[in-house]
Amino acid sequence: MSLKGKDFLSLADFSAKELWSILEKALEVEKNLDRFSNVLAGRFFALIFEKPSTRTRVSFEVAIRQLGGTPLTFNWIELQLGRGETVGDTAKTLERYVHGIIARVVEHKTLLELAKNTEIPVVNALSNLCHPCQALSDMLTIYKLKGKFEGLKLAWVGDGNNVCHSLLIACSKFGLDISVATPKGYEPKKEIVKKALEEAKNSGSRIELTNNPRKAVKNADIIYTDTFVSMGKEAEKRKRLKVFLPRFQVTTKLFDYAKKDCIFMHCLPAKRGEEVTDKVIDGPKSVVWFQAENRLHLQRGLLASLMG
Ligand code: CP
Ligand code: NVA
Repeated sequence: MSLKGKDFLSLADFSAKELWSILEKALEVEKNLDRFSNVLAGRFFALIFEKPSTRTRVSFEVAIRQLGGTPLTFNWIELQLGRGETVGDTAKTLERYVHGIIARVVEHKTLLELAKNTEIPVVNALSNLCHPCQALSDMLTIYKLKGKFEGLKLAWVGDGNNVCHSLLIACSKFGLDISVATPKGYEPKKEIVKKALEEAKNSGSRIELTNNPRKAVKNADIIYTDTFVSMGKEAEKRKRLKVFLPRFQVTTKLFDYAKKDCIFMHCLPAKRGEEVTDKVIDGPKSVVWFQAENRLHLQRGLLASLMG
């Protein structure tokens, strides 16, 4: 199976088998880094960030270098994009210099516009709609820790945001059950839930939406949360914290309702004291640093699959 030259905009664009092949590649590269140290030799990658990033940016830069390629990283505003050059014209120009574009954007449609205007692969490094690199990397983390997907339940507690969207698709593709607890009005987008339900018919995963965090975490193997105030939502911060707190905060008490060996995951950055307490994120059930590390392993598997 070859994924060479493909865009990576949403997990929904790939079959479960294709996504598995990326995880397998990530594991293979991790074990044999020397053997893969030249797969991107002579290749250049434009990393464009319209929003801040620590994990995604650094893990992609390191991954590209470890595979022999060269990353070129830019803030949106320092390119002519910041002065109004169109996304399409930028894409047509960049493909004359580089072999792939990795972009973090405000609006998902910007990624579609980039992809429409270039033949080189475009990778979604987070958009308002989804964060596929994060969720696929989370599948790698879960697989490494639990050794399987079947029979596992992931409980999402918090905002029905971009990360939640990608986890819905990932779980429904890989056959994990997923229960999403959000306050009313903060549910994941209907179109995403519909896609996940379609996928679930093939994989057998069960998908539940609720407004009750305790219900969601019942018998869960994984409790996952993310900020209540995503990038770009800062103006809504006061209102959001009022809606989400205290009920949707992940506390040690909430873990009483989950399985004994339930782990805690968070894509990071965390707002300690908001969506999660220090006690949970720094506690024995938390796997967040291992999870962050796996971003690097997944990025390598992804790059080797799409562009190696
Ligand atoms: N999880 C994640 O994407 O982190 P950054 O915003 O630091 O890239
Ligand atoms: N939902 C968060 C994820 C950050 C990695 C945001 O979009 O800001």
